[in-house]
Amino acid sequence: MARGPGLALPSPWILMLAAVIGHAAAQNQCVCPTNKMTVCDERDPSGRCQCRVLGSNQAVNCSTLTSKCLLLKARMRASHSGRALVRPSEHALLDNDGLYDPDCDQQGRFKARQCNQTSVCWCVNSVGVRRTDKGDLSLQCDEVVRTYHILIDLRHRPDAPAFNHSDLDAELRQLFQQRYLLQPKFVRAVHYEHPTIQIELRQNSSQKVAGEVDIGDAAYYFERDVKGESLFLGPRDLNLRVGGQPLVLEQMLVYYLDEKPPQFSMKRLTSGLIAVIVVVVVAVVAGLAVLVITNRRKSGKYKKVEIKELGEIRQ
Ligand SMILES: *[C@@H]1O[C@H](CO)[C@@H](O)[C@H](O)[C@H]1NC(C)=O
Ligand SMILES: *[C@@H]1O[C@H](CO)[C@@H](O)[C@H](O)[C@H]1NC(C)=O
Ligand SMILES: *[C@@H]1O[C@H](CO)[C@@H](O)[C@H](O)[C@H]1NC(C)=O
Ligand SMILES: *[C@@H]1O[C@H](CO)[C@@H](O)[C@H](O)[C@H]1NC(C)=O
Repeated sequence: MARGPGLALPSPWILMLAAVIGHAAAQNQCVCPTNKMTVCDERDPSGRCQCRVLGSNQAVNCSTLTSKCLLLKARMRASHSGRALVRPSEHALLDNDGLYDPDCDQQGRFKARQCNQTSVCWCVNSVGVRRTDKGDLSLQCDEVVRTYHILIDLRHRPDAPAFNHSDLDAELRQLFQQRYLLQPKFVRAVHYEHPTIQIELRQNSSQKVAGEVDIGDAAYYFERDVKGESLFLGPRDLNLRVGGQPLVLEQMLVYYLDEKPPQFSMKRLTSGLIAVIVVVVVAVVAGLAVLVITNRRKSGKYKKVEIKELGEIRQ
């Protein structure tokens, strides 16, 4: 009896075939799965697919997240090209400088000092949030102070039944690990009290390894996902389910804690606190970023200081 040809095919062939097909598929699809705000091509001498971010034209690694600085820059480019943004009314905010066209360094990180076209300058932390009063071109920012603790405060639909805390915890940890490629140890805790969910991310300078996803970038991708503006290519909407129940998020606030206290004058602190309250009431499906200080009091409580970014309120 002759042996079937399929049996004669040695397994290394199958592996090679798979590799060739896989390679061809990759060639046909020179795209950036982790960042849709890119332009990709294979004109690179190596013939490999290379993707560059809009706005800065910087090459990015599509196996990992793109830095927030490059994403904000790309976003400024995109919003100039026509998509109308709904801005909240002026008096709702102390500052509305969360969206700006940032200066990024070679690695795509925020430069310590940011200025706008009118020569107004300020210092930012590692997530690009202003941490000093505004000054002029003589303003010095010695270093980028690291944001080592991010508190994401979410609210789900109040009429949804309470979720099982441990299932919710597991789902959100899995989300940060699988979708945002963040090492699980940096998700410090998930707190829950119907309908408020809090996710604590922590990663200090000594824990941060080059090439690893930064908590600031993971939080930014999550923020965009919650707003329904996913940065991932293709139909990759955030579709959270906990124990079979859909988890619909309605409100999001992000608090940032830096390794050093920010340097604002006291007057700002007080009016900032009022602004926070106003925005919390106004916001429905809005992404908000709020700077929180640092002055960790003896109680260990956060002190809200100033609103840094109000995402567009969707109508
Ligand atoms: C791209 O990122 C992945 C995941 O962090 C890493 O393993 C890989 O070495 C990076 N590639 C380049 C070319 O930097
Ligand atoms: C620059 O910043 C100042 C102060 O925040 C603001 O009034 C001005 O509109 C900004 N200009 C541009 C071009 O962004
Ligand atoms: C929550 O779910 C876990 C398993 O996922 C289960 O062991 C636990 O009993 C549940 N808790 C409640 C209060 O239902
Ligand atoms: C960074 O975090 C680790 C783990 O929580 C801790 O052991 C270490 O002391 C921290 N380092 C600094 C400089 O805060």
